[in-house]
Amino acid sequence: MPYPTRDLTGSVVAITGATAGIGAAAASQLVEAGAKVVLGGRREERLQEAVARLGADNALGVTMDVRSPADCRRLVDAAVSTFGRLDTIVPNAGIGLYGDILDHSDAEIERMMHTNYDGTVWAIRAALPAMLDAGGGDVVIVSSVAGLRGGGDEAVYAGTKFAQLGLAGSLDRELRAKGIRVTAICPAGTATEFAIGAGRVENDPRFADWLTADDVAHAIVTVLQQPRSARTTMWAMWGMGQQS
Ligand SMILES: NC(=O)c1ccc[n+]([C@@H]2O[C@H](COP(=O)([O-])OP(=O)(O)OC[C@H]3O[C@@H](n4cnc5c(N)ncnc54)[C@H](OP(=O)(O)O)[C@@H]3O)[C@@H](O)[C@H]2O)c1
Repeated sequence: MPYPTRDLTGSVVAITGATAGIGAAAASQLVEAGAKVVLGGRREERLQEAVARLGADNALGVTMDVRSPADCRRLVDAAVSTFGRLDTIVPNAGIGLYGDILDHSDAEIERMMHTNYDGTVWAIRAALPAMLDAGGGDVVIVSSVAGLRGGGDEAVYAGTKFAQLGLAGSLDRELRAKGIRVTAICPAGTATEFAIGAGRVENDPRFADWLTADDVAHAIVTVLQQPRSARTTMWAMWGMGQQS
């Protein structure tokens, strides 16, 4: 008997931070797997380009800022009014500014904490009522290996990623009985626009050894495709050129 991989056809997935990098790659792979996707992000033009690429029957763009609970609710409302339901939320939007804790301005620290942690909480709180209405679903949080052990020049960023893992572990205990699986994806350095100009550079030579956005997107799709009798609570991953 072949393994009973879940068919994602018709499943509705909302992704924050879907205008670039991991979120954009996840949107593409999910549509290839048959899902409908609702894309959140601040850059409207990027959202329009993504919808044009993926097809308006498969994808919807919502200009939104994850730091706003009301914007997160608009993302979910758009999913339900356009596609009739919401099965999965992927809180993925995030920013990283590298440097010692005294290097950042107060505003930069606030922006990192509000985007990475508060934005994750707001997106999940907005999505859960619709997911419960749909009879269950998945929360797939894109955290980081920085959330497992921190790093030398990323204390505040790592703190936001640890916070996501605390949230994920607790929510798994809270939501499993309600038919909702909670997964934290923890990638190591991934070659995207992330932190370009804030600790990384365009075409960073290190990218050759790092994960690609598609590697991480594949992990997101795979946990969703697991039969609902199983769940993955954490998926940590590194490129073969990266030290764990
Ligand atoms: N790249 C890495 O090395 C790496 C490694 C481990 C974990 N991660 C995590 O993976 C996630 C995605 O990162 P990535 O590498 O794909 O970065 P990216 O290419 O820079 O994409 C970040 C996405 O987040 C969105 N975003 C940022 N602030 C937002 C806000 N306030 N409201 C809504 N959307 C916002 C951006 O869209 P707009 O600018 O259009 O709003 C963009 O779509 C992040 O949570 C990051 O911490 C990344």
